[in-house]
Amino acid sequence: MKPYLLIVAASALLLSSCGRNPQTENMTKDFLELAAERYSVRSFDSTPVDQSIIDKIIRAGQIAPTAVNSQPQMVYVVKSEDVMAKLNEVSPCIYGAPQCFVFCYNDENVAGRGASGNYGDIDVTIVLTHMMLEAQNLGVGTCIVGYYDPEKLVEALQLPENIHPVLLMPFGYPSEISEPSSNHSSYRDLSETVKYL
Ligand SMILES: Cc1cc2nc3c(=O)[nH]c(=O)nc-3n(C[C@H](O)[C@H](O)[C@H](O)COP(=O)(O)O)c2cc1C
Repeated sequence: MKPYLLIVAASALLLSSCGRNPQTENMTKDFLELAAERYSVRSFDSTPVDQSIIDKIIRAGQIAPTAVNSQPQMVYVVKSEDVMAKLNEVSPCIYGAPQCFVFCYNDENVAGRGASGNYGDIDVTIVLTHMMLEAQNLGVGTCIVGYYDPEKLVEALQLPENIHPVLLMPFGYPSEISEPSSNHSSYRDLSETVKYL
């Protein structure tokens, strides 16, 4: 084959593979598998998660999108037994986890949302979601917890006035008896939750 024909053939091959973008296809499949594997862990092993793993989970939160990149999140990483004991008084949903993230936002950093207040809750929930999925990626189980006493939490963590708690997320390795709840895989029909316009 003449050299210029070789170049044309190689370019065509390259272009067709770009169109398919096999890398993206693989990533998409892997992400859906990861997301489907995650479930709310409500029974944890007492083994603490190593700091090197916690660092990666925190990094996933650091790179999460927030309104105008305001990054209002304040994430407390509760590792001490003393504070974990206090958290067990704040919520019945710690489920024996050895460690817990407490997700708050700092109202000195948050972006305003006109009459709707601010983006604090939304930003923090996106940060939490990045962290929850990276935890899953690393074999660490989590449970999002909105059922807690906010006043007791402020007291337990001595939160200053500018720090607003949003959600707790106990984390750790699932215990041997941990399993998804019975409604974990029950999904509304897409016709109820998605509309094409
Ligand atoms: C905003 C929010 C608050 C939640 N609060 C609690 C809670 O207080 N206690 C709890 O056990 N689970 C809580 N969950 C977990 C949900 O119950 C759970 O995600 C849902 O039932 C789907 O189950 P799955 O996570 O196993 O897929 C909460 C989840 C979200 C998103």
